[in-house]
Amino acid sequence: MPDANKNYTLNQLAGAAFGAAGQRCMALSTVVFVGESKKWLPELVERAKQLKVSSGFDESADLGPMITPAALKRAEDLIQSGVDEGATLLLDGRGIKPKGFEQGNFLGPTILTGVKTHMRCYKEEIFGPALVCLEADTLDEAIELVNANIYGNGTAIFTNSGSAARKFQDEIDVGQVGINVPIPVPLPMFSFTGSRGSIQGDLNFYGKTGVQFYTSTKTVTALWRSEDVSTAEASVNMPTIR
Ligand SMILES: *[C@@H]1O[C@H](CO)[C@@H](O)[C@H](O)[C@H]1NC(C)=O
Ligand SMILES: *[C@@H]1O[C@H](CO)[C@@H](O)[C@H](O)[C@H]1NC(C)=O
Repeated sequence: MPDANKNYTLNQLAGAAFGAAGQRCMALSTVVFVGESKKWLPELVERAKQLKVSSGFDESADLGPMITPAALKRAEDLIQSGVDEGATLLLDGRGIKPKGFEQGNFLGPTILTGVKTHMRCYKEEIFGPALVCLEADTLDEAIELVNANIYGNGTAIFTNSGSAARKFQDEIDVGQVGINVPIPVPLPMFSFTGSRGSIQGDLNFYGKTGVQFYTSTKTVTALWRSEDVSTAEASVNMPTIR
């Protein structure tokens, strides 16, 4: 949202999208810039450019290589499909060759903007350090866009407005919801939830529904009639077995 803390939000977006080369399970793949916040894009590019791509053993690296040549090729192909379908490649990390590791499966931070929901790069998660950017005029439009996705695993809103956060929390149909938290992975005492294509079955693992999964239910049906209540006088003696 345009009312979010800009620097905090941009740093969180860059970290969540490009950290671990975008290959951790809940890495950020997509951003929806609402209203004026789209003006922040050049600053996001600046932050992304500052990240160092190198060997995973290089302690100064911000992101390492892709896991396999196939994963790299898949990500590169999806990026190209975005360009072919009319998206703008604001930052192209393809072909990057860190010194000393020229043969590695590297992809630098990549930012595609002007992405539309029918494009392949939106529909198929790139699962690499490539961030797909969409735009919406209003929060309502953004919520509608997210809720129309066939998946519903994780999402987050960045805002300084309590009412925008509450509206998002109530109306978004996604399992994990972050508020100013980019990767909303719940602690183990809460359920790992999911909506639509992001859940199979009806129970989530751990949290309350995890307990429910491991619980066998016992149902007791009882009848107590008032006329059966004993009217004998109270005994003050220690009860003994006869
Ligand atoms: C925001 O980030 C920019 C670029 O890193 C920096 O120049 C500016 O001082 C920061 N603003 C605040 C309020 O921290
Ligand atoms: C959500 O995504 C995470 C990370 O990929 C995965 O482990 C989890 O099973 C997914 N959860 C649901 C409910 O889709």
